[in-house]
Amino acid sequence: MHQANATLAPYRKPLSGWDAASWIRSKPIRSASCEGLAFPPELVPLSRHPRFVDDRASMERLLAYRLLTHLQFTTMLELEHVNAVCSRLARDCYALELSREQKNDALRIYCDEGAHALFVELLSVTIENRHGVERAALPQPRFHAVLERIFERHGGEVAPELLHLFFVSVSETLVSKILREIPRHPAVAPLVREVIGDHAQDEGTHSVYFHWLFPRAWSRLDRPKQELVGRILPRFLDAFLAPDLGCDARVLEALSFDEPTREEMLEETYQPGPVRGAVRSAAQPTLRMFEAAGVFETAAAADAFAEYDLYLENAQ
Ligand SMILES: [Fe+2]
Ligand SMILES: [Fe+2]
Repeated sequence: MHQANATLAPYRKPLSGWDAASWIRSKPIRSASCEGLAFPPELVPLSRHPRFVDDRASMERLLAYRLLTHLQFTTMLELEHVNAVCSRLARDCYALELSREQKNDALRIYCDEGAHALFVELLSVTIENRHGVERAALPQPRFHAVLERIFERHGGEVAPELLHLFFVSVSETLVSKILREIPRHPAVAPLVREVIGDHAQDEGTHSVYFHWLFPRAWSRLDRPKQELVGRILPRFLDAFLAPDLGCDARVLEALSFDEPTREEMLEETYQPGPVRGAVRSAAQPTLRMFEAAGVFETAAAADAFAEYDLYLENAQ
């Protein structure tokens, strides 16, 4: 063990208000109007491309596809990743010596994520019907394939289940701009705002849980495993936060742009400098958690984060 237990924060019982506050226990299935935009244009770089600026109908379908993409990403994350890890936490498979309350809180998160998958499904159908878009046009989210490659490549050195725990600690501590900004965006349809608002509230408690969990899991790795996991952490951040260009290309295809036009539009929209800056800015809460846990004291990890241009902005 590389970190004294004394430096680990006490458990703040983030799920103690679960009965009264979580969506599955205390809120209805939303049925507000879906009149309005499906997604904030400010969060969709492609919407600023000249081909969309004067074409309101295509722009609205682009935004609907962006929401569907987010919803499909969410379903994959909740069911395949977060809940696989919560199931193991509930049984203390990682030997983290969790108390009964801490294990049961993992089960509460499991219930939340199952509920999120349900309300994402219901919203997806509504959006498909209203905007004439279909999720069948979208590929599997990029992050899923990236993770599978990482697990395959490093599974012999660190158990894939353990790598999975660290990935979920990353995803659950990044409360995304989407979750923060959609609920208060005046042009977005009330139904979308309410559903994403319910999701954001639940994710706030999950973030506290995984902020507490991460340093415990990290401190139990021996030095060689810290080096290996430390090298992989920036790849997890990147897989979660970087734009999914393969998906954008398929959306443009569904909107009837031919291949050369699609490539040109993506090239004009995503410049490497601003993309790296946006990933770094979104990664800040999780980078702060890594710093507090001592991740950057491992030289191999510090080098890997530098390679991905990921650093704490206020530390520069
Ligand atoms: Fe969720
Ligand atoms: Fe969550």
